[in-house]
Amino acid sequence: MQIFVTGATGFIGSALIPELLAAGHQVVGLTRSAEGAEKLWNAGATAHEGTLEDMASLTRGAERADAVIHLAFDHDFSNYQDNCRKDAAAIAALGKALAGSDRPMLITSGIGMGIAGPGELSREDVLDLGHKNPRIASERAGQEPLQKGVNLSTVRLSQIHDRRRQGLVSYLVDIARGSGYATYVGHGQVRWSACHLSDAARLFRLAIDRAERGARYHAVDEEGVSLRAIAEAIGDSFGLPVQGVTADDAEKHLGPMAAFATFDMPASSSLTQDRLGWKPAGPGLLEDIRAMRRD
Ligand SMILES: NC(=O)c1ccc[n+]([C@@H]2O[C@H](COP(=O)([O-])OP(=O)(O)OC[C@H]3O[C@@H](n4cnc5c(N)ncnc54)[C@H](OP(=O)(O)O)[C@@H]3O)[C@@H](O)[C@H]2O)c1
Repeated sequence: MQIFVTGATGFIGSALIPELLAAGHQVVGLTRSAEGAEKLWNAGATAHEGTLEDMASLTRGAERADAVIHLAFDHDFSNYQDNCRKDAAAIAALGKALAGSDRPMLITSGIGMGIAGPGELSREDVLDLGHKNPRIASERAGQEPLQKGVNLSTVRLSQIHDRRRQGLVSYLVDIARGSGYATYVGHGQVRWSACHLSDAARLFRLAIDRAERGARYHAVDEEGVSLRAIAEAIGDSFGLPVQGVTADDAEKHLGPMAAFATFDMPASSSLTQDRLGWKPAGPGLLEDIRAMRRD
């Protein structure tokens, strides 16, 4: 298939391109810059100029493709709500372009969206369209295309990591290196799930090939790594002391990351593993964090 991939130049998109090419697909990647276009060409993909703000560019990309994988997202977390709304508008535009066809479309969401209640594992069969996390806007936006018959499925991502980057953990690393100590909130009992980049890329490829309308998949290997263990690994990696902050001080110290650092989001991927025959095999999150300094 010719697959239109938004966010193709990003962390996950860059790992997904070789997966898709190796499976015999062609990739057309959305990019907003000449550097992005060059990166795509070098990776064996074709560049499609456009932005998340330019709906006509998204429509053109989707109309010409056999399938769409939507990964692009503006990660300025100081503007998170607006960026989630922007994502919803992009999903609506891509969905409209595919309406009336059975061409598959994959959208991306966060793992926290599948949590039914405090302490529970996020699960693929849970969908709460009134979830308090603004990222639910992405899944809400997927409902209309689905109702109009679009073959849309969703991949929810945990902290996707390799030795260079580890999802939201990378923001905690930057904060730790800036402040001189690695931190967690309270006793650090909040848990984040995690998955290696190579496993996440393989999951996207399996999901687009399977094209199961309405499916939700979880890119999760480790169900829950505590924020305390994460802070300790950051401390080890960069030779920094580790120190807890109170919930009252979390925002002062962590800024927009405070909302995530106090959000317990353990997650399961058992339905995904059964449905796709997907078995994560990459190294663990703490191993990758500890390897960062050496690399
Ligand atoms: N990485 C994780 O651990 C993780 C966890 C949960 C969810 N996710 C979700 O997974 C998806 C991919 O994440 P990622 O880590 O690969 O992101 P990333 O490395 O930050 O890359 C973001 C991509 O989006 C593109 N983009 C950003 N703003 C854009 C705009 N206004 N118009 C067009 N393109 C734009 C970027 O293009 P440029 O090259 O032009 O900047 C880049 O290709 C996102 O939806 C993200 O929220 C990721």
